Amino acid sequence: MSESAPAGSPGRIELARVEDVPTEHGLRVKAGETWVALFKVEDEVFAINAICPHAGAFLDMGYMDGHTVMCPLHGWDFDVRTGESPSFGISTSCFDIEIDDGTVYLKA
Ligand code: FES
Repeated sequence: MSESAPAGSPGRIELARVEDVPTEHGLRVKAGETWVALFKVEDEVFAINAICPHAGAFLDMGYMDGHTVMCPLHGWDFDVRTGESPSFGISTSCFDIEIDDGTVYLKA
């Protein structure tokens, strides 16, 4: 992971290699001051805020059920595609990413 945009790639920040994103939970990476949780579901990668809006647990350590991650502390759930909670009517932020040659980039 890099915390700054790689040379020759303005407007995006390198986060991780696709093959390094697990499927049983997320991968936490830092982009500047922001913790990003990457999730891979059916070979697609999604990015949401890694910090649970309830009490600050890391959502990348949560439990996956399809496109939903359940917070490991108190069980709030979030759809990694939208950031919305199917059970609690709240949401967390999502990030725009792109995949280029097997690398996940955050669009700046
Ligand atoms: S910290 Fe995530 S549900 Fe409480």
